[in-house]
Amino acid sequence: MTSDRFGRNINYLRISLTDKCNLRCVYCMPEDMTFRPKSELLQDDEIIRLVRIFAELGFHKFRLTGGEPTIRANVVDIVDQIVRTAGVQTVAMTTNGLLLNKLAAPLAKAGLKRVNISIDTLNPEKFNKLTRWGKVEDVWAGIEASRQAGLEIKLNAVVVRNYNHLEDVVDLARLTLSQPWQVRFIEMMPFGDVADFQQAGIVSQKELMATISAELGPLSVTNGGQLDGEAKLYQLEGALGTVGFISSVTQPFCASCTRARLTADGRLRLCLLREQEVDLMTPLRDGASDEELKAIIEDGIWWKPWGHRLDDEIIPLNRVMSEIGG
Ligand code: GTP
Ligand code: 5AD
Ligand code: SF4
Repeated sequence: MTSDRFGRNINYLRISLTDKCNLRCVYCMPEDMTFRPKSELLQDDEIIRLVRIFAELGFHKFRLTGGEPTIRANVVDIVDQIVRTAGVQTVAMTTNGLLLNKLAAPLAKAGLKRVNISIDTLNPEKFNKLTRWGKVEDVWAGIEASRQAGLEIKLNAVVVRNYNHLEDVVDLARLTLSQPWQVRFIEMMPFGDVADFQQAGIVSQKELMATISAELGPLSVTNGGQLDGEAKLYQLEGALGTVGFISSVTQPFCASCTRARLTADGRLRLCLLREQEVDLMTPLRDGASDEELKAIIEDGIWWKPWGHRLDDEIIPLNRVMSEIGG
């Protein structure tokens, strides 16, 4: 079991498989984003070795992220190997869904249990504008393929003022009336070069709830008011699914944080919204033993920052979201 100095048990690792993406969402990265060369990214065998080491340290939940994880060559094989690592209990993925039409079935067969799929609006034109070139029907095909493959599905929508903050939010929430899904609305977080845009466009949970309730009726708190991961869950009357809010900015949940992140270039990122990282790539490639790597990881986790300091205008500038994976 790996704990930090505040007594939080850190057992959930989010692994970014690549910094690249087949979309360019406006809230995630600049349009002219440059990506790292392949040689600077963790190789398959390096990822699998690190997963084994993290699992031996007590990590049991693993989530593959990006950029976009499905564009990584061998993604199915990577999932298969992670699932078969001793100590690993759950392997999930956060994806834009574009490639799930083809990949959902093989990923499920390899042992993937859950997919969180990003869909910020059901409106094709607005989807295209938010993602800079995506087609929402491709995401729908991915959602349907995931359903058929038996994957558990959650939908993620980042809300951006004047892009998708009104009827789009209502349409997404309405899906929960007929589908057993968790539809989560995410408060936009600020990073690097995109921070000004993100801070100007944030829409709070309070405002989102008012918008949804005005059209669809009251949202009742569910799950006993407990967070599901970082999402606070609500339900519309008679709904099959739930509406979640991930409100890192207005209602931080750092006290219950269980997460650490492995970036595609082999850094252990200790908090999404803080710049502090530990380089695992250099010791890994310099021949460090498992025990040496474990000591570096445990020390890094011990010093995990308490949480974000957005209220004090401390914004992480060293990476944008696509380089961390959420
Ligand atoms: P499950 O709870 O396992 O379903 O997944 P998840 O919600 O951890 O994963 P997902 O990748 O779907 O994350 C959804 C959103 O929550 C993303 O926008 C993330 O950036 C945000 N998020 C995830 N973990 C953290 C965290 O530790 N801190 C903050 N501030 N935001 C987070
Ligand atoms: N703020 C909040 N969430 C974001 N995501 C991407 N950029 C941001 C941001 N600036 C979301 C994606 C995906 C998850 C990994 O993070 O939409 O759901
Ligand atoms: Fe965890 Fe940092 Fe997110 Fe807080 S801001 S929940 S500490 S990752």
